[in-house]
Parts: sequence; C-alpha cells; structure tokens
Amino acid sequence: MGTKPKILLVDDEPLVLDSLREIVSREDKYQIELAENGTVALSKALQEDYCVIITDLMLRDITGIELLKSLKTRTPETQVIMVSGKGTIDFAVEAMKMGAFDFLTKPYSPPHLLQILERARAYYESLVENKQLKGELRRLKKNYDIIGTHPKVERIRDIIENIAPSDSTALIQGKSGTGKELVARAIHNRSLRADGPFQAVNCGVFAETLIENELFGHEKGAYTGAVQRTIGRIEAAAGGTLFLDEIDTMPISSQVKLLRVLEEHTFQRIGGTKSIFVDFRLIAATNVNLKEAVAQRQFRDDLFYRLNVITITLPEMCERLSDVPLLVSHFMERYKGRSKVQAVSPDALDLLLRYPWPGNVRELVNAIEYAMVMAKGTHIMPADLPENILGRSSEQQQNRESMSLRDTEKDLIVKTLRDCRGNKHLAAKILRIPRSTLYSKLQKHGIYMDTHVETGVVPQDMHGDAERFAVQN
Ligand SMILES: Nc1ncnc2c1ncn2[C@@H]1O[C@H](COP(=O)(O)OP(=O)(O)OP(=O)(O)O)[C@@H](O)[C@H]1O
Ligand SMILES: [Mg+2]
Repeated sequence: MGTKPKILLVDDEPLVLDSLREIVSREDKYQIELAENGTVALSKALQEDYCVIITDLMLRDITGIELLKSLKTRTPETQVIMVSGKGTIDFAVEAMKMGAFDFLTKPYSPPHLLQILERARAYYESLVENKQLKGELRRLKKNYDIIGTHPKVERIRDIIENIAPSDSTALIQGKSGTGKELVARAIHNRSLRADGPFQAVNCGVFAETLIENELFGHEKGAYTGAVQRTIGRIEAAAGGTLFLDEIDTMPISSQVKLLRVLEEHTFQRIGGTKSIFVDFRLIAATNVNLKEAVAQRQFRDDLFYRLNVITITLPEMCERLSDVPLLVSHFMERYKGRSKVQAVSPDALDLLLRYPWPGNVRELVNAIEYAMVMAKGTHIMPADLPENILGRSSEQQQNRESMSLRDTEKDLIVKTLRDCRGNKHLAAKILRIPRSTLYSKLQKHGIYMDTHVETGVVPQDMHGDAERFAVQN
C-alpha cells in the first residue's frame, strides 16, 4: 500500500552517483532513480513526477543551471537540490535565484543531505497539495459559495438545493460564525425570488421598542419624531426574502405580530390603519436551541412551529476539521490581492488542523486575513498565525488522543477517513500520525480500500486519492 516519494539523482560520475544513491537509500523512504547525465534527467523528469531531484551543478552535457531552468518551467513543483565542488559560489547564488531548493557543497555530511532532502520533500508535498486544493475549489465554486466536502456540508448543500425553490419558511440553527447568513443567502440565490431583494435584519441589535419600527415601518406622525412615512424591512422584502437573524432575541409581543404577518400575508405600518399585502419568504436564524427557549417560555411555541417547517443545523468547525485546508485555500484566494502569500507551510497547516475553532469559520477567515498580512514570504509560517492558535494545544485534540487510547482507534480512523472522503494524506494529518503509520493501522484493523465496494461513503473522487473503503469484519 502507498507509494514512496520518487527521487531522481543526477551525476555523470558513476562513482559519485553510486555514493549518492547509497546515502539516500539509508532511509528507506524514497523510491530512487538515477540519471547519468542532464539529458537523461530531463527526459525522465518529463515522464515521471519526481518530488526532488538532486543534481550535480557541473554536468558535461548541460549545466545544472540549464537543467534547473527547464525543470522549473515544465514541472514547477519538483524541488531541485544542487551539489557542487568548491569555488562555484556564483553558480550557487544563481541557482538559488532560479528557484533551487537548496545548495550543497562537497564534501557534505550525509545526515545534512538527508535533512535537506526531507525538507524539500515536505515542501514539494505542500505545493502539490495547494495545487490540488485550488483545483477542488474551482470545481466547488463553479456552482457553490459554500465551501466544504465534509458529508455534513454536502448534506446542507443538498437541503438547500431541495428547499430553495419551495418558498417554505426555513430555520437555520448554528453557533456563531458557522455560516448561517451565507446559507440564507444561498437559499435566496437559488430560489424563484433570486431577482428580488434580500433583506437581512439582526433582531439582536434592536432595543425592544425599536424592532417593530424596523420591521413594520411607520406612518407620518405615528409618534413624536416620526416626521415622514418610513417603510419597514418586511415591506422592503416584497418579492424577495426576509432574513431574521438572532430571532430568539425578538420580544414576545413582536413575535405575535410576526406570526400574524406569516399567516395572513398582511401587516400595518405603525400608526397606520390600512392592511398592506406583502409577499416575502422568511428565513430565520438562531445560535440558541429554540426548542429549549420555547420550554422556558422565552419563545412562542406557535411561531416556533411555523418557523420549524425546515430546519438546517450547521456543524461547528471542530466537527468538520477535514474542511480546514479547503477553507484556508478559499480565504487565501479572497485576500491574495493584499499579500504575496501563495501557500501554507505544512507546519502552519498542522496547527490550523489542531485548533478547536471556537469562533468557527468566521475565526478561520480572520486568522487567514491576519496571517496573510503578517507573512513575510510566499508561505504562511506558524509564526504568522494569531497568538491563540499558535499557543494553544487544543482540548479537541486531547479528546481525540484519549479516544484513540481507549481502543476506539479503529472507529476514529474510519470516521476520519469518511470525513476526509478517503483522502489518506489529509486523514493522517488530522490524526497527527505519519502516513506510513496510517497505512499500517489500516492493515492492522482490516480497513481496506476497495474501488469496487459499494459503501456509499465516498461519493466522489478527491485529490485522486479517494478510493472507497470498507471495514473487514
Ligand atoms: N462553508 C463556508 N464556505 C465559505 N465561507 C464560509 C462558510 N461558512 C462560513 N463562511 C464565511 O464565514 C464568515 C461567517 O459566516 P456567517 O456570517 O454566514 O456566519 P453566521 O453563522 O451568520 O455568524 P454569526 O452567528 O456571527 O452571525 C463569512 O465570512 C462567511 O462568508
Ligand atoms: Mg450572522
């Protein structure tokens, strides 16, 4: 199972090439291929994906610099490590400018070479991963603004697709920052009212006496200071959607009036006597459990049942950590105009995957914006992340670890693989184990990947690594 990363070693001195092969093969991590000159190296690199190429700078047929140039244009992700004899410092500088990963001067120590090789491999993987994420994002964005491939997110997209054209009232529940307004807008944009207005009102920001004014509007002279007729948000939403956020904060007296509007499709402006017909769709949102609010008599049960026709419950970020890399890529695209950052370093991504995200997607958006401003290079490094993400070893992670200690390792692996749609690379990252360890655990627990088993767990291919999987009993 699993293929080792491919490394190409290039030198036209057979003895040197052989000793290089011997050093690299000390760690049984790589699949090694050899090229006896630059031309062979180039033709091999065009046919195979090498993660790292180690080449001598002074080849007889083409110079290492020429080889580097060709490689960078044809296989930009492949990392090139240059090796040279003494007195070639000018070439070394040029090579680094041209995008060589690193430079070694003979004689070098084998552990040093292996260390650089390992860093180059990790860098290659981060570039490939970023490229794949960008591709996946393009696919998702073609028809959606709600990013994520976690099954819970897929399900929400399905619900939106189904209910959007129906005109039914919808209630969106979810903790702060989970994307409630985004979902409300997605429903509106896919509804028959998409060309009509989308009016968003956060009930939580209005004092008790002002919310009705905001919703219903008023006639001239309705109260002191009402110098002219003002239409409210309900009227402004005619032909479109009214989104009432934090509906749980609405005073009971206003709830009664809202219910009447929903049932009769008419309302009166404050101080008015005329009933005005209005046609809008209501989408409400809350970050509390409305059913409990009803039990505590803080929310009217009749309005609750009217709203609760279709309820969409949004997952917290910690329930869908497998979506972190995709969301990070998405937000990096959003802020790319302000920064030269192109990718996230593996260490920074690791921290982002370990953080519990109490502020959910909104906190992730803010963290990426912050990191893009702070980053000095082309990669977001751990030090560029906000303090709380850097310093915190998450409770979530501790839970994960103690669970795996408690013999639930198998469940955890299957669940994580499902969350990651079979993407073993990502699953290993979330579980914080090397990929090779994941492979051996898959074998140990009899979890096997089989493209022919119809489990219905992995509906679509992701990163070309998403085979269907099943558990052998
Ligand atoms: N699945 C997602 N894909 C892409 N962006 C998302 C997703 N979920 C949330 N966001 C982004 O996260 C931010 C917060 O989302 P939103 O305002 O919809 O959350 P909310 O639940 O309404 O938050 P609050 O409870 O604080 O009002 C927005 O910038 C939104 O675009
Ligand atoms: Mg909101």
